[in-house]
Amino acid sequence: MSFMKKIGILNGPNLNWLGKREPEIYGHTTLADLERGLADYAANLGNCEIECFQSNHEGALIDKIYDWAERGFEGIVFNPGAFTHTSIALRDALAGAGIATVEVHISNVHAREEFRHRSLTAPVCRGQICGLGLKGYAYALEALANQRPEVSE
Ligand code: DQA
Repeated sequence: MSFMKKIGILNGPNLNWLGKREPEIYGHTTLADLERGLADYAANLGNCEIECFQSNHEGALIDKIYDWAERGFEGIVFNPGAFTHTSIALRDALAGAGIATVEVHISNVHAREEFRHRSLTAPVCRGQICGLGLKGYAYALEALANQRPEVSE
């Protein structure tokens, strides 16, 4: 039996284009670079291993959440992209699967257009990090890796 916590890094629509997409908002780092950096970060934490998945399709993201639930994942770092603001189905999947999830946004969604201010997914997450750039993923990963289920922080 492994004592490593399994944590999923889940990225939603348009995040495959990270590094090329609106770099003035999202920066120049690619998704592959981000995922490599997070794998190194997890190795340094020493108590978790990550699996990464990105899709532009709502159903594929939902399927992955249940796949990770069945495989005993203990955390998800999730940037749902624009589905944050629209997807009741993703919210239901997160609530149904019951994996501790931290929602991450690279940009400060509250400083942007009104339609980005509401998150349908955040209420079923442990917390939300936004506006801290790509570092937000690492902070979320560390929080999930060090969470103790018996303590409600
Ligand atoms: C985003 C913010 C969303 O509003 C947007 O649709 C994205 C990226 C972010 O990481 O800042 O695709 O989730």
